[in-house]
Amino acid sequence: MRLRQSGFGWVVQAPAKLNLFLEVLGKRADGYHDLETVMVAINLFDTLILNEESSGEITLRCQHAGAILSRTNRARDEVPETRDNLVVRAAELLRSRCGVQRGVHIDLIKRIPAAAGMAGGSSDAAAVMFALNLIWKLGLSEIELRRLASEIGSDVCFFLSSASAATCRGRGEILEPCPLPLRLYFVVARPDSGLSTALVYRHCRPEAEPRGARELLQALQRGDLQRASQQLRNSLQPPAESLNADVRQLKEEFSRLPVVGHMMTGSGTAYFGLCQNRQSAMTAAARLRARGLSRVFVAESPP
Ligand code: C5P
Repeated sequence: MRLRQSGFGWVVQAPAKLNLFLEVLGKRADGYHDLETVMVAINLFDTLILNEESSGEITLRCQHAGAILSRTNRARDEVPETRDNLVVRAAELLRSRCGVQRGVHIDLIKRIPAAAGMAGGSSDAAAVMFALNLIWKLGLSEIELRRLASEIGSDVCFFLSSASAATCRGRGEILEPCPLPLRLYFVVARPDSGLSTALVYRHCRPEAEPRGARELLQALQRGDLQRASQQLRNSLQPPAESLNADVRQLKEEFSRLPVVGHMMTGSGTAYFGLCQNRQSAMTAAARLRARGLSRVFVAESPP
């Protein structure tokens, strides 16, 4: 992540992620599940603009990028502006743990769909922690920030690491960076409905025979997309499919596309196709839009 100062305030971009692999290994005593997952950051971003708030409060205004462009107030995803928003919780946590008295106003411009398995809320929270650590000159190390981040959510830590791809274990907060030698191209679709992460986990079944992400990572290291696509796995997809008809329909749609492989990301409902190159991702996106899907993105991982 990078913080820059503009005429509007401090600006930080929060990327979305896709899970190329997610195996649920077992349920834990604390109610979470142990995982092995491979997360890749993609070039779909929310934007956060931070300014000093003279009242001393932490305030948030959230707008959908599409609504700003079309000058309407119609929000396509309901994103809370209260303490329920992870952004506010992250700022409050940082302030209370570091004994800071200052306030901040955060403008959040959303592009990452909510309840989609793309960790938009987690990435926004990470972006706020990253930015406030610098703006408030707190001097926290990446490890210290990640420790705090794990209190906000399992995925937040990934975005606070400098890795653009990582194998994550524990409940998702233990990171092992896995730099990829190639840029990956995706077509991503989010249906009209979303899914609650907690609900999907409640219906999942741990893998009886976990195979681990090693073969997938080795295939990606060799640049062998065909082999890599055979190793895509998401233990949360079967429960998501049984809970949500849109996910089942997307799987159908993607199986007819000329993509190398396809899968749901995280707890859904967004679904991605791994593509040979940017052109084939754009062709697949056009076909999905022609089928009536409105929220379709072409995305790529950093090199
Ligand atoms: O960590 P986060 O707040 O994003 O998780 C949301 C919910 O998803 C948790 O309350 C839990 O029910 C479920 N979850 C889980 N195991 C994980 C991550 C999340 O059961 N590893």
